[in-house]
Amino acid sequence: MIAIYPGSFDPPTNGHLDLIERGGNIFDELIVAILRNTEKSPLFSLGERRTMLESMTGEFRNVRVDTFDGLMVDYAARVKAKAVLRGIRAISDYEYELQMALMNRKLRPELETVFMMPAEQYSYLSSRLVREVAQLGGSIKGLVPEMVEQRLKEKLDPAIKLENARKLKAGKRV
Ligand code: PNS
Repeated sequence: MIAIYPGSFDPPTNGHLDLIERGGNIFDELIVAILRNTEKSPLFSLGERRTMLESMTGEFRNVRVDTFDGLMVDYAARVKAKAVLRGIRAISDYEYELQMALMNRKLRPELETVFMMPAEQYSYLSSRLVREVAQLGGSIKGLVPEMVEQRLKEKLDPAIKLENARKLKAGKRV
């Protein structure tokens, strides 16, 4: 069975990775689907998020990364997914997830939402908090893969930002 794991992944965290691994263990194919949302202004570009997720999931043979816009249920139909995977961390997630799952069921009854719990050490983790802590100079070690930590540092450190801007101006790769 094909399942999709949709989200913003701005940035992807170890909580996402934990869920991808669990999902990959029960579905034949898992598609990590990044929302191409033009309204929100994300910290990481779509390309950056895709690259990070591809490198995080490269070792999982039955996992691939894709992007989508429009209704999630329409995307699921296009890729022939029968299930959508979502993570539930705490009761506070439940109300929003229930609402979304039931709306999606109304739109496409044959698509089933499957909830999984991440490992408890990630139960408080969210992309929003990772962004906030990193932006304010706190440590996010162990909460995101090292490559994401590095990318966040590069994005937020003014000295590295300046250096990258100089390199780009000079036509060099950053
Ligand atoms: O990472 P997030 O923000 O929790 O993911 C939310 C996401 C991408 C799953 C949700 O916003 C979504 O599916 N958006 C696509 C548009 C859509 O189908 N909206 C109706 C949802 S009931």
